[in-house]
Amino acid sequence: MGKSVILPGLRANNDLHIGNYFGAMLPMVDMAKTRSEEFQVNMFIPDLHSFTTPVEHADLYDQILHNARLFVAAGLPLDNPDIHLYRQSYVPAHSELTWILDCFTGYGQMGRMTQFKDKSSNATEVSVGLFNYPVLMASDILLYGASYVPVGDDQSQHLEFTRDIAERMNSRFGELFTVPEPVAKQHEFFGKDQGLRIMDLVEPTKKMSKSNDTGRGVIFLGDNPEDAAKKIMSATTDDKADVVYDPENQPGVSNLLEILSLLRSQKLADVVSEFAGQSRYGDFKLVVAQEVKNFLTDFQARLAAVDDNAVFTKLESSEQIMNEQANATLYRVQQAVGLRKRND
Ligand code: ADP
Ligand code: TRP
Repeated sequence: MGKSVILPGLRANNDLHIGNYFGAMLPMVDMAKTRSEEFQVNMFIPDLHSFTTPVEHADLYDQILHNARLFVAAGLPLDNPDIHLYRQSYVPAHSELTWILDCFTGYGQMGRMTQFKDKSSNATEVSVGLFNYPVLMASDILLYGASYVPVGDDQSQHLEFTRDIAERMNSRFGELFTVPEPVAKQHEFFGKDQGLRIMDLVEPTKKMSKSNDTGRGVIFLGDNPEDAAKKIMSATTDDKADVVYDPENQPGVSNLLEILSLLRSQKLADVVSEFAGQSRYGDFKLVVAQEVKNFLTDFQARLAAVDDNAVFTKLESSEQIMNEQANATLYRVQQAVGLRKRND
């Protein structure tokens, strides 16, 4: 048996914003760096999942590579043999296992998935892909016997489903799958990173999201730094004229304090005390705007310096190793369900 597996996945439908960056990508990269001595880290881009939300097909291929480069610009080392970086669709076993698991998954159980209900309730057309999305996610996890999967609250139900189908298959066919740890254990393992929520700049009671219509309240990693600074200057605040951290009553100002602490990698409490007593929001915003400008300028320079050949080499070598690991699991399943000759 090799090392236990940690499996973080991040979708690549759109340019990422600073919420995705500080809430997901950076914690994943930090985790990969700190845990790779003890664990195998499977960092992957679930590109087949992209079609379950609106996507620009003409741009998708480039977007996927762009996300791989973003991981590198965020500090992911390419020379660590225990950290893999791969694209889901380059490992065909994901799709094949999904079909098999589909046939052991109840229609009713999928219909009860909260994310499916949310996303299908106001859609004009609901695809079968959106419906069985959790089964593909279960395959992503089970093919590699992953124990730890960093997921936000919105994905916890899918992780529970993964455990459920793994346990059911195991009790019917013998020990086929490693069952991932339950959600509570995942939280314990990954710590507090899960909870971060950067809010929209225009509507600070809603989370910053790539699906927000205008993008005026969202800072994308690819934004022109000057334009991003302007978004900060026009962020919604309040009429209290007091820079304090009070998300309930002053969500806009609190969000800017949070953003500043992330950009500077400084403790929130230190940032809050630096501005204690400040009543002029304009001056405070100027500081945040400048910091956003510096961050984006710096990040974009790092991104431009990423060596595309090195990224391709890493993707290809990881994909080869992942195909071997995934095919070994798939073969065991195919034997168990009667598609391949058994060893006995
Ligand atoms: P979006 O809402 O932009 O579509 P996703 O739902 O695809 O983002 O989330 C991708 C990852 O980024 C998830 O791990 C999620 O927890 C994280 N994330 C998304 N928005 C934020 C935010 N505003 N603040 C912190 N983390 C976020
Ligand atoms: N469903 C996840 C999301 O929307 C992405 C994802 C797909 C994933 N497969 C995964 C995350 C496997 C972790 C493990 O964010």
